[in-house]
Amino acid sequence: MPGPELCGQDRLPINPAGDYLEQFAGQLDSAAIRRERIKSSRKIRLPFWEPHRKLISSLPVLSDLNVGSRAGSVVVGSPEDLDSGGAEAVREGIELLIPWRKGPWELFGQRIESEWRSDLKWDRVAPLLGTLKNRIVADIGCGNGYYMYRLAELGPKLVLGMDPSDRFYYQFQFVQHFARSSGVHLEPFGVQHAPLYPDFFDLVLCMGVIYHRPDPIGMLKNLYRCTRPHGTLILESQAIAGEGDFALFPKERYAKARNVFFVPTANCLLNFVERAGFCDAQVYSIERVTFDEQRRTKHARFESLEDFLDPDDLDKTIEGYPAPYRVIVKATKPKK
Ligand SMILES: C[S@@+](CC[C@H](N)C(=O)[O-])C[C@H]1O[C@@H](n2cnc3c(N)ncnc32)[C@H](O)[C@@H]1O
Repeated sequence: MPGPELCGQDRLPINPAGDYLEQFAGQLDSAAIRRERIKSSRKIRLPFWEPHRKLISSLPVLSDLNVGSRAGSVVVGSPEDLDSGGAEAVREGIELLIPWRKGPWELFGQRIESEWRSDLKWDRVAPLLGTLKNRIVADIGCGNGYYMYRLAELGPKLVLGMDPSDRFYYQFQFVQHFARSSGVHLEPFGVQHAPLYPDFFDLVLCMGVIYHRPDPIGMLKNLYRCTRPHGTLILESQAIAGEGDFALFPKERYAKARNVFFVPTANCLLNFVERAGFCDAQVYSIERVTFDEQRRTKHARFESLEDFLDPDDLDKTIEGYPAPYRVIVKATKPKK
């Protein structure tokens, strides 16, 4: 049976920041990346997303909006920048793109309350970043791009996000349509595409991805390949408490999620990182996930942390496994 008719690449929303590949043509195999971009955009070209494409193409084009962050939200524009029709279109877009898992955002004064308070993770990661002025940064598994806008405020030359999720792609395009942040780009790629950027990034962030991968060392080797010699990896992961060198491997689900494979202790995560070739790996943060950080909201109206933990013992998931922590490891790729 023939598959659904996909829209052409030319119908996808255009990143107003242009195509970064033109700027880096001498350093990257642009033809190979463009070929992969076409292959990887199959899901985002499905007819299901036609209303989203239409909505984004009908939005007003505004320039010189204020883009930044305030009290943890990524903020674009203010209410006075839009007439009532424009404000209604933004409201419609926010609704159409529900669920918003990552945020919070404030678009022209309209708040998007995401399931995750990504700003709390940002507060843990930001002190580890060092100077980003003119640096080339990857955010692998970047979700809808919340952290890319936070990173862009620190003056890098390029923030390249990679994420295969179609919904996150459209959320990013919706925000970027207005933000027009130069140097912020999203490829519909997974971590398996990272080797398309050999020795390229000064800093590689990969947060919330490793426990979703069945082959954590293979994934880290891909991150290693795209990091420049002496460049930095910041890896953030769900984790379990304990001093031992072990990872939990759930039988079927962990906190109701089927797509969770290895959930390491902090020490085990260090071992993963070092055995993939990185050096100077250190743990910088170990935090329990709280109901403030992950919760149901009006823009994410599905089950959240309170449904994933055992109501009689919050130290356990609903399956009886140890409850989730979050761990951050920073490491370096050795000089050649
Ligand atoms: C738990 S979310 C983390 C998002 C964000 N980095 C954060 O820390 O909030 C996991 C992300 O990994 C993305 N993802 C799924 N498969 C992936 C893959 N093969 N490579 C990279 N990212 C992937 C998902 O689309 C999702 O955005």
